[in-house]
Amino acid sequence: MSRKNVAVIPGDGIGPEVIKATLEVLEKAAPGKFDFTEVAMGGNAIDKYGEPLPDFSLKTCQNADATLLGAVGGPKWDNQPPEKRPERGLLGVRSGLEVFANIRPAKIFAPLASACPLRKDIAEKGIDFIIVRELTGGIYFGKHEAFKTSDGERAARDVMEYSEHEIKRIAHVAFKMAMGRRKIVTSIDKANILTTSRLWREVVEEVAKEYPEVKLNHLYVDNASMQLVRAPSDFDVIVTENTFGDILSDEASQIVGSIGMIPSASLGENNRGLYEPIHGSAPDIAGQDKANPIGTILAGAMMLRYSFAMNKEADKIENAVDEVLRDGLRTPDIFMDGTKLITGSQMRDAIIAKL
Ligand code: IPM
Ligand code: MG
Repeated sequence: MSRKNVAVIPGDGIGPEVIKATLEVLEKAAPGKFDFTEVAMGGNAIDKYGEPLPDFSLKTCQNADATLLGAVGGPKWDNQPPEKRPERGLLGVRSGLEVFANIRPAKIFAPLASACPLRKDIAEKGIDFIIVRELTGGIYFGKHEAFKTSDGERAARDVMEYSEHEIKRIAHVAFKMAMGRRKIVTSIDKANILTTSRLWREVVEEVAKEYPEVKLNHLYVDNASMQLVRAPSDFDVIVTENTFGDILSDEASQIVGSIGMIPSASLGENNRGLYEPIHGSAPDIAGQDKANPIGTILAGAMMLRYSFAMNKEADKIENAVDEVLRDGLRTPDIFMDGTKLITGSQMRDAIIAKL
């Protein structure tokens, strides 16, 4: 196999720490298989180049076989105008790479079962679902406007728009994924209110006809957020639009124990994905060696699986993570009585030692 070119965006806050750990883990799991190219994006790029996503940064990602991202943003850049915020760089990478399908697994790691905040009888039924979040459409990419009304009052609007092809392609991703799992798709919308949701429902139902073995349910997003804590074991594959997916995936992360543990893969029509943990840049703990690198390490494993078909190496990494958790090693975010508190770099070293 030829060496893979990976664009690496360390980002801001804890981003560089968790990325450093992940690159070391990847190198150990598959020595000599990668060329990593560091890319400036986010607050660090604003400081250095005056913009969150310089053209050359995006080009490097577009030319790479895959992109690995830590996290971006922080209070330092909160007062920037919208087009100069770190988050804008992130959206630029997502749309520039055309990765419209964001895959966010929510699964209880057996050794962390007691970290699930839900009632024992609910958690014991098993929690293992995937959120397929539409990533390059909806309000995130609609027109954003601040304006004055005719009375001179301040007003603002954000436009939510979806077209048929955007819904169709994300629905296919969800149904295909369900075919390899328990064959249940739950499409989440707000069709009792939103026109975009009614189109969403219509198109998802059309796509469903091509997957007769898959059972399709629809839920309104408010109800879904309740069902996720009432009966999480009912869910297999969730498909939903950008904003609902953003919100529900944070909820899901807490259900399974810690936001620091969850990786995500963003995929387009080809294999060149974008891989990142779902957590943010956590500026409050940056540089203190407290950050849990597992979410990013598992994002690295997803990269091996989805972009490079290196399933064996991906398994190795996932098993190593499982083993260190079984050994009782815990970074502060997942620490509980009876376990051993360690730093982020100790967590990295423990995982590497298992490889
Ligand atoms: C996420 C994050 C981002 C999003 C932010 C940082 C722009 O919350 O990946 O879920 O809203 O998509
Ligand atoms: Mg989010």
